[in-house]
Amino acid sequence: MSTGDLGHEEPLSARIRQDVPHSARMYDYFLGGKDHYAVDREAAERVLEVFPDMRSAVQANRAFMRRSTRVMAGRGLRQWLDIGTGIPTSPNLHEVAQGVAPDARVVYVDNDPVVLAHSRALMTSTPEGRTAYIHGDVRDPDTILAAPELARTLDLDQPVVLSMVALLHFVPDIAEAHAIVDRLFKPLPRGSALVLSHATAELDPAGAPKVQEIYNRAGTTLQLRTRQEFATFFEGLTLLEPGIVTAHRWCPDDIDPLPEGLTDAQVSFYAAVGVKP
Ligand SMILES: C[S@@+](CC[C@H](N)C(=O)[O-])C[C@H]1O[C@@H](n2cnc3c(N)ncnc32)[C@H](O)[C@@H]1O
Repeated sequence: MSTGDLGHEEPLSARIRQDVPHSARMYDYFLGGKDHYAVDREAAERVLEVFPDMRSAVQANRAFMRRSTRVMAGRGLRQWLDIGTGIPTSPNLHEVAQGVAPDARVVYVDNDPVVLAHSRALMTSTPEGRTAYIHGDVRDPDTILAAPELARTLDLDQPVVLSMVALLHFVPDIAEAHAIVDRLFKPLPRGSALVLSHATAELDPAGAPKVQEIYNRAGTTLQLRTRQEFATFFEGLTLLEPGIVTAHRWCPDDIDPLPEGLTDAQVSFYAAVGVKP
């Protein structure tokens, strides 16, 4: 178990801004968590006014993380690099993976100081497995790849699941988002998997751009992308069935049932898993 904190010397409390909304804390509010400030709740309530199904959408997104983790563990994968982890919300990815394979190893990465402050909750590995946390920014993939916690936890000669669930829409420039995925995924061996979900405006063209506007005005650039743009991240990979679908339609199971009758517009997150052939 280890917690990496890349190159920051300021005390943690000084890095937690309570005057501007943070995407991780707004997401926690939508999920029904407790780690948010008034400024996050106000921004989140503005989102709920224009997109009343946001709570169902983020629950469907989080459930996709759990299902894809179970599916990949069931296919024999044992290592995860999860970037944009979010404030710990049980069950976290390692709890799901280790529920199937107790020896699973998971490295978490997020750039939000609140996630760092709560990262102890991610350090609850089984004795057979291992978890680590890196305080890092996905826009600096070289630093993530060079982190000692990564080398100590994952064997990059063996297949790894690179998961960036509800993250790449916070990288506005698609060329930069591609460069990030390439830098992180290209070195991984065959059999490695890319797990992504991404917000879109295609399914609710009236509501989703209003959500985007609220995030952008709050200082977090949210870039909604089309299905076609989302598909470009999987070029050269073999998409697992059912391909690119809205998050709640990806391999639904009875372990983790979602509310019935959810529509694509209500979810508005594309999701897919691609495997390196
Ligand atoms: C919407 S939450 C998703 C949490 C989790 N992956 C899930 O789907 O349940 C997005 C997370 O990405 C993090 N994030 C945003 N930009 C980031 C960046 N540039 N580098 C690392 N993490 C980032 C936020 O702090 C937040 O915790």
